[in-house]
Amino acid sequence: MEEESGGRTLGTVFVVDDEKNILRSLRMILGGEGFDVVTASSGESALERLRAGLYPDIMLLDLKLPGIDGIETMRRVREVEHVGSTVPIVMISGHAVLGDAVEAVKKGAVDFLEKPLDRDRVVITVKNLLATYMLEGEVRDMRERLASRYRMVGDSASLKHLFAEIEKVAPTKGRVLITGESGVGKELVAWAIHRLSPRANRRFVKVNCAAIPGELIESELFGYEKGAFTGAAGTKKGQFELASGGTLFLDEIGDMSPSAQAKVLRALQSGEITRVGGESVVSVDVRVIAATNKDIEEEVHQGRFREDLYFRLNVIRSHVPPLREHKEDVPILVEHFLDEFARENGVGRRTVSPEVLDRLCLHHWPGNVRELKNVIERMAILGGDMLTPADLPDFIFRPPSERSGNVEEYADLGLREFREEMEKKFIQFKLKENDWNISSTARSLGIERTNLHKKIKALGISRHDP
Ligand SMILES: Nc1ncnc2c1ncn2[C@@H]1O[C@H](COP(=O)(O)OP(=O)(O)OP(=O)(O)O)[C@@H](O)[C@H]1O
Ligand SMILES: [Mg+2]
Repeated sequence: MEEESGGRTLGTVFVVDDEKNILRSLRMILGGEGFDVVTASSGESALERLRAGLYPDIMLLDLKLPGIDGIETMRRVREVEHVGSTVPIVMISGHAVLGDAVEAVKKGAVDFLEKPLDRDRVVITVKNLLATYMLEGEVRDMRERLASRYRMVGDSASLKHLFAEIEKVAPTKGRVLITGESGVGKELVAWAIHRLSPRANRRFVKVNCAAIPGELIESELFGYEKGAFTGAAGTKKGQFELASGGTLFLDEIGDMSPSAQAKVLRALQSGEITRVGGESVVSVDVRVIAATNKDIEEEVHQGRFREDLYFRLNVIRSHVPPLREHKEDVPILVEHFLDEFARENGVGRRTVSPEVLDRLCLHHWPGNVRELKNVIERMAILGGDMLTPADLPDFIFRPPSERSGNVEEYADLGLREFREEMEKKFIQFKLKENDWNISSTARSLGIERTNLHKKIKALGISRHDP
């Protein structure tokens, strides 16, 4: 719950004091500086306000209060849900009880102000504390967001198996080759391995091998010395060096040029690199995790990927299954993406109707989890609080029988499903044309009768189809 009065203020200061003139002067001083000031004249009423949802950014609390005193009030504030454990509290105390103020700081107040209040000291104290705490809050927020963005969810047997595998390989230094179609979560797996490894607090450096032009990959990976080539104004460290002590994630290795493959191989064999234009070798300690959405064995077979490099990288193999093979995870993924969307955009949490979930579970998901995430995001942006089938993109909602003409309409299918659907339509058409005479239909299709019978059964074709 937030209290906002008109435009954006610098923050809300909650002042608790039984002296009317103190409240009045703090309201004037802090209000004049652009803060929102909320006041209470006893510990009890302050607690009431907080429990009712007041969410101050900072509290100024008088030590001597009529009912429960400042220290006791502070103790109880800490127990108020949400706000209590984080709000910074500054004690206000009279001269005579300075010792108590020191005691209060020991018990968790962040600072204290002495009466009579000095205007500048009040303003500086409040401003500094707010700056620090807002920054801390933002850092905490960002950490949480990062953790959530990289969280892998899944309840299916195949993902649980994958998670167990990640936990097993993470503590080692073993190289991992992650394979799987585009959008299945390979990068998340790489990050999870890093986060669960002893290198978690060191760097995770990602290199997208497909995105770097062949002639730049060497300087990108290994760095260069001043004057190595025109434009090399200074020495630059490469990704191998930057990742030293941490993890180097070589993404899309299937797209690496042959010369880059040779150089990476050399680095992996020796554990040393040489900067472009440099003489000395630098030894690097990196854990390499690689990923590709290509059929890497086929690439090796075709001679496009070096076999020796393949063997170096493929020490531990981790395969991430396509979403269509663990559709039981669709609901939990949908919930996860809805949570994330609400948090990232600071909007209300959307929900999906059961019909929407059913539809999403039926979809083939050629773009895997990434496609599901995009669909959910799009629906959350365009739809209302409750997402209904009307909010689904056309290509998901339309039942297969309603499709016609354009190939784009079949974008959600794999080749096999596409072929079957087309075959079914065509056979239905021929059957109708031949008045369901099996012999003439088979003749016109150029296949055996028995074969046609088999197809009719396998494709679930019936005379009563629309
Ligand atoms: N199990 C999961 N739980 C939560 N989010 C996931 C999961 N799997 C994938 N995602 C999300 O789906 C998106 C795609 O994942 P990621 O980038 O890791 O795929 P990829 O396999 O590396 O794809 P590409 O081959 O195209 O690079 C990301 O936004 C990721 O956060
Ligand atoms: Mg990726």
